[in-house]
Amino acid sequence: MSPSCEVVAVDPAGLGLGSSIGSDPVDPIERAARLLRHGGLVAFPTETVYGLGADALVDAAVERVFAAKQRPAHDPLIVHLAGVEDVGLVVSEWPDAAAALAEAFWPGPLSLVLARQPSVPARVTAGGPAVAVRVPAHPVARRLIRAAGVPIAAPSANRFGRISPTTAAHVVEELGDRIDLVLDAGPTPLGVESTVVDLTGAVPLLRRPGGVTLEDLRRVIPRLEVAHRSVVAAGRAASAPGELIAHYSPATPVVLVEAGDDVVDQLVERSAAAGIVARRLVLGPDSSIAAQQLYATLRAADRVDTDVVLARPVDPDGLGRAVNDRLYRAAHGRIVTDATPGTIARLVAIVQGAESGGP
Ligand code: TXA
Ligand code: MG
Repeated sequence: MSPSCEVVAVDPAGLGLGSSIGSDPVDPIERAARLLRHGGLVAFPTETVYGLGADALVDAAVERVFAAKQRPAHDPLIVHLAGVEDVGLVVSEWPDAAAALAEAFWPGPLSLVLARQPSVPARVTAGGPAVAVRVPAHPVARRLIRAAGVPIAAPSANRFGRISPTTAAHVVEELGDRIDLVLDAGPTPLGVESTVVDLTGAVPLLRRPGGVTLEDLRRVIPRLEVAHRSVVAAGRAASAPGELIAHYSPATPVVLVEAGDDVVDQLVERSAAAGIVARRLVLGPDSSIAAQQLYATLRAADRVDTDVVLARPVDPDGLGRAVNDRLYRAAHGRIVTDATPGTIARLVAIVQGAESGGP
């Protein structure tokens, strides 16, 4: 077995002492906070996904995050705060729209992109003038950040381009040999990342759909516009930081099917006849359950005998928009609309690695 970090169980309510084997009888959240203050890497639960935390104001700690994830330097990190009263530590302007959104949705799954303070290391913002900030709602995250006493930079705790972790076991699978500690509070409640809203331009812009829905945001800022879904090919620098299309992917190729269930049935059957195993991705009955299960289900694709995963978009209401965004990225932008011989030939080519995706 390869060496692995320590995993400590904590009460999801963030109260009391956790249970672990062989570690100090110290409150695990206090211990994690101490590690963070000393430049360590701690993975912790948020209400969206598990994050990989480091002291956001210490360049060397942030550098370790990029190295552990193998994340390219042009992809900026979200800074997590214990409360809205701390925004001044990282943000230099606080427009009315930010105040209104923070009042409505913090603590919660919303990241705001704002002008940064010069004290924020350039590495955090990928060299840019803006920083993303959020106040997470998960009690363990909140206690951890408060105990650390510093802003915490935390990307999702997965290797770059891979599927975000919704359990501590996923974190260990991704990064177990590269980090110091994982706080395990069980599965994360929402299952998809925070919504990212950019407030640095003339008009507020939704950059990433996520845990706070577009409908709810527009009730607070009706002029919110939606950035076009990314048309950036895998691996190339994106039009905006972090907007790479090849993201959230299992090793098994995924294809988005924009057609009815009958077409999926035909694709499964005709793929079998062509000698490849195509399986449908089955997600829960409503968009909240689909979001909660999405990443664990995508991960499972690599454990069962499957050559290609066929995913149909879900109802775009509520969290459905975020689920469909992640499916599109998991599929590297590959969309099919029918089960004609041409489409079957394309699936075979995808399985053989002849088509890597991206429009
Ligand atoms: O729910 C979440 O947001 C999770 C948990 C751990 O809080 N974190 C997360 O971080 O998803 P990450 O690094 O996987 O995604 C951060 C994304 C970037 O890829 C980018 O799209 C956007 O947030 N972002 C961060 N800083 C930005 C900036 N300065 N300007 C524009 N977009 C930014
Ligand atoms: Mg991520």
